[in-house]
Amino acid sequence: MPGPRPTLPASDLARTVVFAAFIAVLGLFPGFYVGGSGVPIIIQNMGPLLAGIILGARRATAAVVLMLALTAIGLPLLSGGRGGVAPFIGPSGGFLFGWIASALVAGLIAQRARNRGLPVLLLAAFAGLLADYLVGIPFLGFYTGDFGAAFVQSLVFVPGDLAKVVVAALVASVVHRALPGTLVSSAARNE
Ligand code: BTN
Repeated sequence: MPGPRPTLPASDLARTVVFAAFIAVLGLFPGFYVGGSGVPIIIQNMGPLLAGIILGARRATAAVVLMLALTAIGLPLLSGGRGGVAPFIGPSGGFLFGWIASALVAGLIAQRARNRGLPVLLLAAFAGLLADYLVGIPFLGFYTGDFGAAFVQSLVFVPGDLAKVVVAALVASVVHRALPGTLVSSAARNE
């Protein structure tokens, strides 16, 4: 007989919503368009990485999907106050969908690790970043019709994104030390 359907307990739902809001708040920082790709340099993509390594894959993915869904229905949650469907079908679209992969990959690595020290968190956040690139860069290449140019144009993101990986891992390491149960589902804690 199939077991009970997995649901998000109330406190997991609250954390998911808080992180969706947090990712939206990161969108208040303006984006900068450098290199002619039409994809901005932003700090908002640190949100899915942070969500993954703090909340774990399930809740982080839900937070990113919620934030992107609210954006798609028109809330101005992206940098520069953008929203609607247009950003998803423009040059940045793949990177936006890639945020789901970021949260999932970073979360899976962090939650499966035996310890959540800084090296593991750095690795998890870095893998989450690569997951976003793996979706975003081919999408940009498909959009522009030039995969080589898409790759070269995306190199401009690397220094800032590596800095975001480090900041996210440092923040998450402090959170895990202060609140050791954060990555454990509230269902597993019988809350
Ligand atoms: C949007 O606001 O339209 C989405 C922008 C996506 C920007 C991507 S995320 C990964 C890479 N790092 C950046 O700073 N910018 C790109």
